[in-house]
Amino acid sequence: MTTYITKKSGKYWPSKEMKKIAWVKDDKIYKKAEKNPVKFWGELAKEGITWEKPWEKTYEEKLPYFTWFKGGKLNFCVNALDRHLDKNKTALIWVPEPVKEKTVKLTYGELYDKVNKFANVLKKLGVKKGDVVAIYLPLIPEALISILACTRIGAIHSVVFSAFSAGALKTRIKDGKAKILISADGYYRRGKPENLKKKVGEAVKGTKVKNIIMVDRIQKNKKYRGKYLSFEKEIDKADSYCKPELMNSEDILFILYTSGTTGKPKGVIHDTGGYATQAYWTTKWNFNLREDDILWCTADIGWITGHTYAFYGPLLTGNTTLIYEGSPDFPNPGRWWDIIDENKVTVFYTAPTAIRMFMKFGDKYIKKNKLKSLKILGTVGEPIDEDAWEWYFKKIGNSRCPVIDTWWQTETGGTLINALPGVGPFVPTVAGKSFPGTRHIVVDKKGKKVKSGKNGFLVQLSPFAPGMFHGIYKNHKRYVKTYWKRFKDKYDTSDGAFIKEGFIRVTGRTDDVMKVAGHRLSTAELENALNEDKIVNESAVVPIPDKIKGEVPIAFVVLKKGTASEVLEKKLKKDVDKAIGPTARPVKIYFVDELPKTRSGKIMRRILKNILNKEEPQGLATLVNPKCVEEIKGVVGEGIVKK
Ligand code: PRX
Repeated sequence: MTTYITKKSGKYWPSKEMKKIAWVKDDKIYKKAEKNPVKFWGELAKEGITWEKPWEKTYEEKLPYFTWFKGGKLNFCVNALDRHLDKNKTALIWVPEPVKEKTVKLTYGELYDKVNKFANVLKKLGVKKGDVVAIYLPLIPEALISILACTRIGAIHSVVFSAFSAGALKTRIKDGKAKILISADGYYRRGKPENLKKKVGEAVKGTKVKNIIMVDRIQKNKKYRGKYLSFEKEIDKADSYCKPELMNSEDILFILYTSGTTGKPKGVIHDTGGYATQAYWTTKWNFNLREDDILWCTADIGWITGHTYAFYGPLLTGNTTLIYEGSPDFPNPGRWWDIIDENKVTVFYTAPTAIRMFMKFGDKYIKKNKLKSLKILGTVGEPIDEDAWEWYFKKIGNSRCPVIDTWWQTETGGTLINALPGVGPFVPTVAGKSFPGTRHIVVDKKGKKVKSGKNGFLVQLSPFAPGMFHGIYKNHKRYVKTYWKRFKDKYDTSDGAFIKEGFIRVTGRTDDVMKVAGHRLSTAELENALNEDKIVNESAVVPIPDKIKGEVPIAFVVLKKGTASEVLEKKLKKDVDKAIGPTARPVKIYFVDELPKTRSGKIMRRILKNILNKEEPQGLATLVNPKCVEEIKGVVGEGIVKK
């Protein structure tokens, strides 16, 4: 078995074998890119992306907005499909959850055929360039077909995570004013079909959705009536070629809603040319993709990682991508490792939360002398602790594959801070350096750069990366306030970090955003869901550390009426399921008489966190009701953080 790493002065570095195959072997690339990042990205964009018309201006900045490749014209779908047609190779491997169902493989040609036909279906339904199409699909090939079809005709897709509730879907449909929704009758999770159709029915009520195109995932040949159309039947009737729409580099490719610090999710806007450039190069260099590499990124299409690395990145580079519909531990915790062996996956990209879950299952599901096809491992979504890193490195990578810890966000579109496989070093808990051509520093509250090793706020400096978002959909104010207000001319990531010997370690969010099992959730959204209940006066949600999920939410509720009980706790948890989805369900709800507040009425969540973590609450002097702290301590009692 080839070993892709070597140990030198206590750190892991690329081995000779890795250097032989690496696109980037030398850390000189960082200096070269830093000299003139705009020129650097301009050259990459020319080389990696097929443009129908060259751009006039590589980068233009009028903060808080900036554009890449202005005047340039291209079609994203042409870049992801058309230019790879002559390769006659597999584009997508889809593994359904039921073990008895066969794995499906689609070549670039087959995918091209379906995407063209589906693009014509959308056109026939009146979808035009710039229209928003909502997509509420599980990890099935039709998800890829749908997003690519949108990009072919210049429609903007807005994908909603299929485990989100009807309420969450409705909010996103309404915000984007989508007239078309693409969904499925359901999907398989832990051996059971999950019903999506019911949620779709609820979600579209009161929206402007004209048509709903349904994929028959659970039951074939269903009959649809009224607004509902069958994905399969419509595709069968459609013409097989759809001319790609010529798009401006700055035209919107997609919107993806993500959680912020308010109760309302924000529609993060990604453009076409800049996003394509960053998606292409980060996929190619981070995962060192060569002609025969097969990438498996386990993220769902409902999240940015699914967009960029399960689908778009590996297709832009002309590689094979694998997606799996179901639960990682179904029918047993060996499933993922079997999938890697059966399909000879070479690059595996997942979240620390999954790694920690597998650690708990123990090593017995990982068979000896297996997982030989792997070359590179990646992680994303939350800080990875040393134990999880070591386990992943030793057990899955057989101590021979680099672990690439990639830091990025829905807003950044593609990875931004990580080690490159041919350069290294690969250090547990350290993400690494800014991707060539991008710059991040750590600053204090005033925006001043802090000394090496000191904690502070992670910011990005101009010129901002090409994959960066271009605003919040129809909400300029929020865009400015969230990202550009605190630090002048610097993009505020909302993450804490420190830099040591030039390498960045990200420590986690500094705002009221939680990462629960890698999923981004806002405390305010959960509070809104709880406050919707007539019996609730007010609530406060705070995350506490969790061994597997990283963080989990805990809620404190003040009731208007009724008495605290287990039944009530269950009911309120259901409210959250309904408003957002089970991913956001609080693990515990405490009923209290009052929440700690400042004189101006601000709830001091930090004090609640202190209480849960058995720390001495700080800043009691600023409270208007300090007495409530003792009461809350009593309610919380002992042991909550031990779970
Ligand atoms: O806090 C950081 C954390 O995830 C946040 C972004 O979440 P989301 O928009 O859902 O995107 C996740 C996938 C890109 C960041 O603000 N985060 C992401 N990657 C890492 C991380 N924290 C530490 N290390 C990482 N590698």
